[in-house]
Amino acid sequence: MADTLTITDNRTGKSYEVPIENGAIPTTALLQCRASEDDVGVRGYDPSFTNTASCKSRITFLDGERGILRYRGYPIEQLADQSNYLECAYLIVKGELPDVESFARWERNVTLHTMVHENIKTFISGFRYDAHPMGILLGTVGALSTFYPDASDVENLESRRLQTRRLIGKLPTIAAYAYRHIRGYPYIYPDNDLSYTGNFLSMLFRMQERRYKPDPVIERALDTLFVLHADHEQNCSTNAVRAVGSSLVDPYSAIAAGIAALYGPRHGGANEAVVRTLQRIGSVGNVARSVAQFKSGEERLMGFGHRVYKNFDPRGTIIKKLAYEVFEVTGKNPLIDVALELERIALEDDYFVERKLYPNVDFYSGIIYQAMGFPMTMFPVLFAIGRTAGWLAQWAEMIRDPEQRIARPRQLYCGEDERDYIPLDDRSPAGDREDMVSDDI
Ligand code: CMC
Repeated sequence: MADTLTITDNRTGKSYEVPIENGAIPTTALLQCRASEDDVGVRGYDPSFTNTASCKSRITFLDGERGILRYRGYPIEQLADQSNYLECAYLIVKGELPDVESFARWERNVTLHTMVHENIKTFISGFRYDAHPMGILLGTVGALSTFYPDASDVENLESRRLQTRRLIGKLPTIAAYAYRHIRGYPYIYPDNDLSYTGNFLSMLFRMQERRYKPDPVIERALDTLFVLHADHEQNCSTNAVRAVGSSLVDPYSAIAAGIAALYGPRHGGANEAVVRTLQRIGSVGNVARSVAQFKSGEERLMGFGHRVYKNFDPRGTIIKKLAYEVFEVTGKNPLIDVALELERIALEDDYFVERKLYPNVDFYSGIIYQAMGFPMTMFPVLFAIGRTAGWLAQWAEMIRDPEQRIARPRQLYCGEDERDYIPLDDRSPAGDREDMVSDDI
């Protein structure tokens, strides 16, 4: 049995044999299907990449039907239970788990880069007191490219390694400064004797004490949340990082593009939106009424649904368990009861069942973050810290891949045919044509 697909062009009666590799056909093979001499060939049309692979990747395996997620082959459940974020970052970026010596070196190398230039503090101080911390993160990570002009040497392996350590090291510092800025607190310098996540908690929450001692349960839970968010193959923000990075711009600019994509409510901003929704619902008794609203199409139930997972999101299952460990320390976040009831009713409802809409990673993460004392606007920032390892690994994989060129999708032009320019005074009113773009401007 040949691994090929035979395509017959019924306009010409010609057949073409196209190779199937890794379960996919190269859509460029369709270019040979031409109806006439001046035909450019058939194109693939796939808005939002529903069934188009944009790259080959060796980083993350995801089976949405079976709820499987693996980083470099290791199941997410094992990593969440036994590993830690820095080790997972190593695994994702370098491809293998480190041995004792390599891990110590990696930890030291990342830790060396937790400080930021003093001008970054001044830069962040320029944001308004009520600036969204995700906007601060986005702007500041973009600004880092001006501090490290050497980062533009993206084809240099040593430069890529250095920027990777810098970004993984500095993201928590910038995130913590953003938080302290909106709170109006002085910034806290990194304490490199603490763990990656312990130091982050110190930079966030340290007040008068000489030394901040993170609660081990909170430190471990937040670290696990970073592990769960570390990569998720070709999601919206990773696609943004790869597409922007394919122009060979420096990684700070490419990662800033990823942060911008993650900011949106359909992606990393969903965790913030979930908690707002749960607060609005207010109590278990109001849940049934609210579900009707989500079914009417008026509003989406944030934290539900996924482009790829169609049975359950394995990260959601782990996070739900984690919530109770955190509540042991922080006290129960009463929104968990509203969330559980919402999940129960939705999972029995035909609307959600037919569309295969299940709780995703964002449904329970916000409830934990809130119990830990984070304001809602910080939730997507926490997602971004974890995802930085994945973005960097995907970016480096894209740069090294000889099959990757500048990202440049095709379009199907459906607009006007050629027409002559009419001077302003001679034009008749445009009227109310339905396809006019005037309401966009
Ligand atoms: N609530 C109500 N209806 C929904 C929802 C939802 N959360 N999600 C999808 N639907 C409906 C949608 O209206 C459509 O119905 P119909 O076929 O009648 O028009 C159908 O389900 C398919 O939706 P879609 O928008 O075509 O699905 P998609 O694969 O393009 O979108 C999604 C995936 C995650 C953007 C979407 O499910 C959504 O908006 N969820 C809420 C936001 C959210 O929780 N985002 C976090 C995703 S997980 C973490 C991450 O990667 O960022």
